[in-house]
Amino acid sequence: MKKIIRNGTIVTATDTYKADILIEEDKISAIGLNFDRTDAEVIDASGHYIFPGGVDPHTHLDMPFGGTVTKDDFESGTIAAAFGGTTTIIDFCLTNKGEPLQNAIETWHEKSKNKAVIDYSFHLMIGEINDDVLKELPRVIEKEGITSFKVFMAYKNVFQADDATLYRTLLAAKEYGALVMVHAENGDVVDYLINQALAEGKVEPIYHALTRPPEVEGEATGRAATLTGLANSQLYVVHVTCAEAVEKITEARNNGIDIWGETCPQYLVLDQSMLEKPDFEGAKYVWSPPLREKWNQDVLWNALKNGNLQTLGSDQCSFDFKGQKDLGRDDFSKIPNGGPMIEDRVSILFSEGVKKGRISLNQFVDISSTRGAKLFGLYPQKGTIAVGSDADLVIFDPNCKRTISSETHHMAVDYNAFEGMEVTGEPVSVLVRGEFVIREKRFVGNAGSGQFLKRKKYGETSLIEEISNEGKK
Ligand code: URP
Ligand code: ZN
Ligand code: ZN
Ligand code: ZN
Repeated sequence: MKKIIRNGTIVTATDTYKADILIEEDKISAIGLNFDRTDAEVIDASGHYIFPGGVDPHTHLDMPFGGTVTKDDFESGTIAAAFGGTTTIIDFCLTNKGEPLQNAIETWHEKSKNKAVIDYSFHLMIGEINDDVLKELPRVIEKEGITSFKVFMAYKNVFQADDATLYRTLLAAKEYGALVMVHAENGDVVDYLINQALAEGKVEPIYHALTRPPEVEGEATGRAATLTGLANSQLYVVHVTCAEAVEKITEARNNGIDIWGETCPQYLVLDQSMLEKPDFEGAKYVWSPPLREKWNQDVLWNALKNGNLQTLGSDQCSFDFKGQKDLGRDDFSKIPNGGPMIEDRVSILFSEGVKKGRISLNQFVDISSTRGAKLFGLYPQKGTIAVGSDADLVIFDPNCKRTISSETHHMAVDYNAFEGMEVTGEPVSVLVRGEFVIREKRFVGNAGSGQFLKRKKYGETSLIEEISNEGKK
């Protein structure tokens, strides 16, 4: 059935205006005023903003990690994402050394198929580079439409890759048209610091933060940026947390290196003191890189505002407090790393960013949706409100207030890291490709209705040049 969304205020990364949206099939077919259609269902959006559906470029659903598996899978995770105004996620597909990349991709298709309620794609982890891997990469890009590769510089003896692997991945990405992503922490130094702390009997959650100081993130970020320049390639730094890393990214950008940065809501509003909560509650805030001293939050907000950081990912990687985080009661290094952020990513950016005057309304859309779509080859199918784009739309009430709580959230996990935080603004209805998934704050979607998205190569997305100079001196 055709739909007309009437009387809302459309907000994109560049414009804010009042108009009606005509949806035919799964696309936006017209934007204008006074459509005279008797064959369409009319949805009144008076008093509401209409945003392009959020694009979350960083999730871990149904992922084995830290001796357990994340609590949220592609069904609960994408339902929560939809409630929060996100209509596309890009999840990390883990690979195993010595196994064909294709096996890992099939595993991730199995996990997501018949479960996701919003659209999704995968980034592919690269843990080693050899002739077999190099042979597979062009096919992964061309046929699978997976055009971003993730290299971990940390998690020694688990995911960590060495610098040669990172460098060769950068070279391959340049050659074939992909974007390399790094988890930037010096894993060797972190490993040493963890062992030293444990030997001294320091086992509480706060030592997770103290053994991963900002210097190890800054160092790895700078190293990855340097290697990117050497390879004349392109880099996206996930979950940037601190001034040290922002400085390295800014410096590299000013030197003409193609480097992009993401931060996450948790780093914008929570700080390191959360890990000191008594009765092991600090474990709820254990993820990597760790929460930082509070003053770093201003650095991150400024970088989002001035364009030296481009995107907001959730880094959704949820583990129950009871039974999962518990694995590290006697040893912080055994606490599964990660937190539940997929649902509140957009609300927190709107409430803390737009409502508090830190970023503009259009920057909010750019950061939560448009830039992720552009960088990862989904634009303009995703990430904007335009004729011909997928009708992924969020009808948003900018004034309603809500207190974040695990009592009311839609994730499967047993706690919320933002418990008790009051936010202003909330999605009321969310459409994916023209169909309601959330309608008047109720879930009306279907498991399996989300589609896998094959993405364009890095740089093929139109308008990538447009964002490339922002923030540069
Ligand atoms: O602690 C985190 N961030 N867990 C998820 C894996 C990663 O490093 O992104
Ligand atoms: Zn990471
Ligand atoms: Zn992550
Ligand atoms: Zn309303």
